[in-house]
Amino acid sequence: MASSADRTIPIDSPSSALNKFKQQNLPACKPVLRPSCVITSFLVLGFIFVPIGLTTLCASRTVVEIVDRYDSGCVPGAFRSNKVSFIKDTSLPKNCSRVLKVRKHMKAPIYIYYQLDNYYQNHRRYVKSRSDQQLLHGLESNNTSSCEPEEFNNGLPVVPCGLIAWSLFNDTYTFIRGTKELSINRKNIAWESDHDSKFGKHVYPLNFQNGTLIGGGKLDPHIPLSDQEDLIVWMRTAALPSFRKLYGRIEEDLEADDVIVVHLMNNYNTYSFGGKKKLVLSTSSWLGGRNDFLGVAYIFVGGSCIILSIVFLLLHMKNSRY
Ligand SMILES: *[C@@H]1O[C@H](CO)[C@@H](O)[C@H](O)[C@H]1NC(C)=O
Ligand SMILES: *[C@@H]1O[C@H](CO)[C@@H](O)[C@H](O)[C@H]1NC(C)=O
Repeated sequence: MASSADRTIPIDSPSSALNKFKQQNLPACKPVLRPSCVITSFLVLGFIFVPIGLTTLCASRTVVEIVDRYDSGCVPGAFRSNKVSFIKDTSLPKNCSRVLKVRKHMKAPIYIYYQLDNYYQNHRRYVKSRSDQQLLHGLESNNTSSCEPEEFNNGLPVVPCGLIAWSLFNDTYTFIRGTKELSINRKNIAWESDHDSKFGKHVYPLNFQNGTLIGGGKLDPHIPLSDQEDLIVWMRTAALPSFRKLYGRIEEDLEADDVIVVHLMNNYNTYSFGGKKKLVLSTSSWLGGRNDFLGVAYIFVGGSCIILSIVFLLLHMKNSRY
């Protein structure tokens, strides 16, 4: 440290603001942290944060959720030890039925999600394997090199190209209550901005999922990409390895003790990498889905503030007594 202290500092003009800045002589505001001031500010913060936390937590707790993991239950007993061979065998039927019991009244709209665990949509090579230009402009955009290895198939370009689109989720669900099928609204499940400005209205799927290796769902070549909402939802890649994606909405209430039979097609292969598949039915509150974290965090911070202010108060009283 001695060497740096010895170094001379060039001084151009002693009165200049720059020099004052260098010499740290600028006027500064130095708060005087009087005990009363500190204690009241902590107390006020605490009394603001705790109620916010309680409100948020209550809102999150009003959300009713049904989560059903079905990936292993939907594999027939004979294949339990070798699930990959079951999912890869196209001659075996993949349909499966699950029974869900509604514990509490669920108010419409009820959101249907599929949840995948241990699925790294954020992998560097996966996340880059798409062409936003092609999604918007179709074949007019001829630079799709980012889509490797799903760029061409039999010499023809693939639309939409890239691994993300290629691995489109393809399980399907239908819901039956009593004898009646519940209708699912599958419209408006994607972000409006994606639908309006990232996926072309005149771009149609082409040569998609035509290779020897099928990665996932197929797309109807007569529907433009901007209306393929499952694809749009899927292509907004998740940041974490456990994620939920919206499948649709049930637009009628479910009563407590209703029994819902789910007929699903267990197509998607998560078995080869040990992923889990779950079906989630969830209502929503003004805060969105169920998430206790925000409320707990507010209560924790607010509670800590109140405890600190009490500690400071006690210390202050003890010190000022002498
Ligand atoms: C790509 O398309 C542009 C016009 O959209 C064209 O000028 C260019 O020659 C094309 N490049 C190739 C390699 O086809
Ligand atoms: C669904 O995706 C899997 C890959 O995960 C694929 O093997 C299967 O052929 C696809 N099935 C349908 C019906 O699209």
